[in-house]
Amino acid sequence: MTDVRDAPTTSPISTRKHGDVLIVLSNNPPVNALGLAVRQGLVAAIGEAEADDSVKAVVIACEGQTFFAGADVSEFGTPKAFEQPLPTVVDIIENCSKPVVAAIHGTALGGGLEVALASHYRVALPTAKLGTPEVKLGLLPGAGGTQRLPRVAGVRKALEMCATGNPIGAKDGFDCGLIDRLVEGELLPHAVAYAEEVRDVRPLPKSSERQDRLNDCTADVFETFVKENGRKFRGFEAPLKNVEAVKAACEKPYAEGVIEERKLFMELMSGTQAKAQQYFFFAERKANKIEGLADDVRPRDIKKVGVIGAGTMGGGISMNFLSAGIPVTIVEMNQEALDRGAGIMRKNYEATASKGRMTAQQVEQAMGYLQPTLDFAALADCDLIIEAVYENMDVKKEIFGRLDKIAKPGAILASNTSYLDINEIASSISRPGDVVGMHFFSPANVMKLLEVVRGDKTSPDVLLTAMQLGKRIKKVPVVAGVCHGFIGNRMLMPRQIEATKLLLEGASPEQVDRVHVEFGMPMGPFQMADLAGVDIGWHRDPNRIENVRDALCAIDRWGQKKGAGFYDYDEKRRPTPSPVVQQIIEDFAKKQGVERREISDQEIVERTLYTMVNEGAKILEEGIAQRASDIDVVWVYGYGWPVYRGGPMFWADTEGLQAIVDGLKRQEERMKPDFSFSQLLLDKAAKGEKFGK
Ligand code: 3HC
Repeated sequence: MTDVRDAPTTSPISTRKHGDVLIVLSNNPPVNALGLAVRQGLVAAIGEAEADDSVKAVVIACEGQTFFAGADVSEFGTPKAFEQPLPTVVDIIENCSKPVVAAIHGTALGGGLEVALASHYRVALPTAKLGTPEVKLGLLPGAGGTQRLPRVAGVRKALEMCATGNPIGAKDGFDCGLIDRLVEGELLPHAVAYAEEVRDVRPLPKSSERQDRLNDCTADVFETFVKENGRKFRGFEAPLKNVEAVKAACEKPYAEGVIEERKLFMELMSGTQAKAQQYFFFAERKANKIEGLADDVRPRDIKKVGVIGAGTMGGGISMNFLSAGIPVTIVEMNQEALDRGAGIMRKNYEATASKGRMTAQQVEQAMGYLQPTLDFAALADCDLIIEAVYENMDVKKEIFGRLDKIAKPGAILASNTSYLDINEIASSISRPGDVVGMHFFSPANVMKLLEVVRGDKTSPDVLLTAMQLGKRIKKVPVVAGVCHGFIGNRMLMPRQIEATKLLLEGASPEQVDRVHVEFGMPMGPFQMADLAGVDIGWHRDPNRIENVRDALCAIDRWGQKKGAGFYDYDEKRRPTPSPVVQQIIEDFAKKQGVERREISDQEIVERTLYTMVNEGAKILEEGIAQRASDIDVVWVYGYGWPVYRGGPMFWADTEGLQAIVDGLKRQEERMKPDFSFSQLLLDKAAKGEKFGK
């Protein structure tokens, strides 16, 4: 490129000329978020193009890893957000009297896509992604995106993009008209060449003026779309407002549509859900940071992974690495189990391929990285070995003892245990520093959460490696300390204890589950028990009946897999309340002298959800979790806590910690002897503090 001008040193936006094209370049790492300085710089750059007669066209591009990834979320709620607002900036771009070409690489998201939509032309690399993820922040595209996108990409496409927030690839963008030209190789020269091609084309194609794509949909497109996505949208406010905004694009002239968009945007922005979802955005990113890690700690190199056990967990865990192109040696005790495990992995991949989310070639590629074997010694060249066998301390210790002998020096030895003491496992071998917990959640190839359990002796570089590897295999890793059940499962325990006691006192499984589902959980405690298996952890003696669960297991009511558990199930696994279970509960209550009474929904909330907050506070004060937001990440990604409530700790903050304490005090007598207060919770409530800042 020639004719370089000096850029203002303080602005993230610089300009330079190439022939008669003005290149406007953003350099605002890490993701070119459209903060105030960027917005001001863009406006100044368009002003420069207007003022300079020798400029005939403009290219807007970004340096670094990505095109603008959206508005700067950290500015939300601050005065900066109102200065040189993005809706005005994009209008200035669209109204530029010279053609503006957006050159897209990386991800053009949210406000970034809105800048692209306001540009007259869009050129992209095939690897680029385009999206409007605002809905995931509890918002909608607020800079004309809901009005311009359907006009450019079609109504159905815009609906899907806005209401789900899922990005599309550049090729898809090209097919739907969002991208004008796909280019290979170096983006900027191609974009400049394109700008030169279109420099004299008039009138300038303005997205806001287009009408042709607004009618290419069926009359019931909105109704159908909402119906199709009913389950996904349950409880969320933003998706339906996105639908409303896109609908406004079809029903109103552009100028009125953007007013409607602004109104809906402000409604969402002032609500609790948007606050929770924006909080969660940063919580997720913070979770990846290890407190107190020295700057000079470097991760170990992981080129090959070993997995012990080809059952449901071992297979699912392996798939994460295979999908990321990391070779896996998987070990089983006998050929049949090994074949079955590998067969299930292949079937899972093929199911993904049949939905069009993978090609047949990618299936073969992933499976090609798998080396199934019966030979334990084949693990000798692995850099990380994860055991995923039966949850039993003696078995785990035996396996770690064998690994101690054969694993190469520096190999990381991980356990996928969900409850057991990592310190005990580590101290049974000669290299405790190499031991770490990597607790995947089932189905391990799908669930995003990874609890990385730091033992007392886990080396910092081992912890760092496990966290970074977690991110590499597209998980959300969270550091947890050693305790029974770590963060997630430990918090399940008080919930389960109180839920079961509530049954005896007069609640039904349906009532407890309904309260949880209405709260926004995907299912309640008893639905979850039926799904996971009522028999998990059962002592297997049908004559030893000490609680309702023992009684159910003794008569083969092990959950969905047996067609009966806390509920009866039909052949399509649809649940109905069970009179048998009701009778068992009543008999037990009688036997134990528990007086049955009417239980209010509020009591269920206080005894099953407030107790979780209390347990979370204990986890925090014991240092098991690094920060309150990590607990929220665990619960949203591991157990389906509704993200629009931020997670249990954020939710407690919104309820008010004193209200939580008051609720628990109301129930304290009934919860004895299982319950005790977290001192941290009491202290924070007394001081009027929150878990979050
Ligand atoms: N605003 C402020 N900070 C942002 C940001 C944003 N829009 N997007 C990312 N960041 C920050 C992250 O917090 C993180 O900071 P940290 O290093 O201090 O933790 C850093 O940038 C890197 O982010 P990631 O760790 O997420 O990096 P990845 O490479 O994994 O992912 C990404 C990059 C795909 C761009 C991802 O960051 C992302 O999805 N960002 C959010 C995009 C988004 O939601 N845009 C819409 C914003 S709302 C909007 O535009 C409203 C408008 O319509 C008016």
